[in-house]
Amino acid sequence: MHEHTHLEPGSGYFLYHSIGLFPDKARLTADALAGFAQIWGTADDQAWPASLRLKERFIERWRHCIDAPPGTMTTADNVTTALYSLVGSLPDATLKGRRLRIAADCFPSLHFLLAGMAQRRGFILETVPLRPGEAWVRDEDFMARWTPEVAVALLTHVTSTASHRSRLEALIAHGHAVGSLVGVDITQSVGIIPFSAQRTDADFVVASTLKWLCGVAGAGVLHVKQRLLKECRPELRGWFSQEDIFSWNLERFRYAPDARRFDHGTPSIVACVASLPALDWHASQDPAALLAHNRELGESLVAMAQALKLELISPRNADERGGSIMLRLPDRVPAQTLLEALRANGSYADVRGQALRLSPGNLTTAEGIARLETALFDALRGHR
Ligand SMILES: Cc1ncc(COP(=O)(O)O)c(C=O)c1O
Repeated sequence: MHEHTHLEPGSGYFLYHSIGLFPDKARLTADALAGFAQIWGTADDQAWPASLRLKERFIERWRHCIDAPPGTMTTADNVTTALYSLVGSLPDATLKGRRLRIAADCFPSLHFLLAGMAQRRGFILETVPLRPGEAWVRDEDFMARWTPEVAVALLTHVTSTASHRSRLEALIAHGHAVGSLVGVDITQSVGIIPFSAQRTDADFVVASTLKWLCGVAGAGVLHVKQRLLKECRPELRGWFSQEDIFSWNLERFRYAPDARRFDHGTPSIVACVASLPALDWHASQDPAALLAHNRELGESLVAMAQALKLELISPRNADERGGSIMLRLPDRVPAQTLLEALRANGSYADVRGQALRLSPGNLTTAEGIARLETALFDALRGHR
């Protein structure tokens, strides 16, 4: 890294699908954590009130970011646990003998979770396949044979393998017409592609703060629509699931009326605190400008792919895409060696198999793309 100190910081950073960056992230995160350390290291009785206020501020930022009504959001360690809390809260009458529908290009962790839960909760996990040779599950395939047998459908707003963006409104409307609950994983879209929980009418939403929102690991969230919330009885529960957490009468456990019912034991707040500077920064930005910058650089990456004769995995049409551009590397090119070559000129990307994932964000620049192109050109030529 040190040999690239002359470069604009982040100009060749293409990892927003993995970890987002914003100006001065390291210092602002350190300041937030120093403040948190002060709270926990001070000999008074204010540690919990101060910490819970910070957690609330995190939730409020999120609520505004995705247009979710008050009382409908809480935190989770990650997306997988958020989904576990939600599915684990649904009554047997909803799940037993019925189907949970998901696409084959969902985030694998969520499929692993649901496959494990299916047997015990007595539902059938129905995975809509990719068509041979295609990189994402088509919306029309997800909708085909989506019948009232489907108790719950989990949509991925933007996929992590192709950056394919689903038409949520149409899918959710279809799901509701047949009586399904419809949840959306917005992890790969939130912060770059506009999303409104109210406008889309999603029954629940799972996400994390790590990617385009530029936070840190461990700051997951769950949003549950009010009408569904009331019926949820989370299996993972504890004293923090109650309205009054100090109600300790063993016979009198009662779920909080709002999304706090998805809380359980003493909350882990540090990731929320460390992500607050990112959420504050994001809230101060013009979402249209963030997207326009991403789109402009995305088109440059598509042009670069054409020039280098690399196959585009992501949809060609920007309206069908999230913020990333995935490109297929020829089989003859060792992907890890290629990443090393990119790293050596200050370009940071990653691969899944032979798919090169490139996600330009607010710090990435046109100069960074020019540098990436040079490094890719040289690396590909070296493996002819
Ligand atoms: C679409 C999507 N969902 C979920 C996740 C992360 O899930 P978890 O927080 O459980 O690791 C990712 C991470 O890459 C993702 O791309």
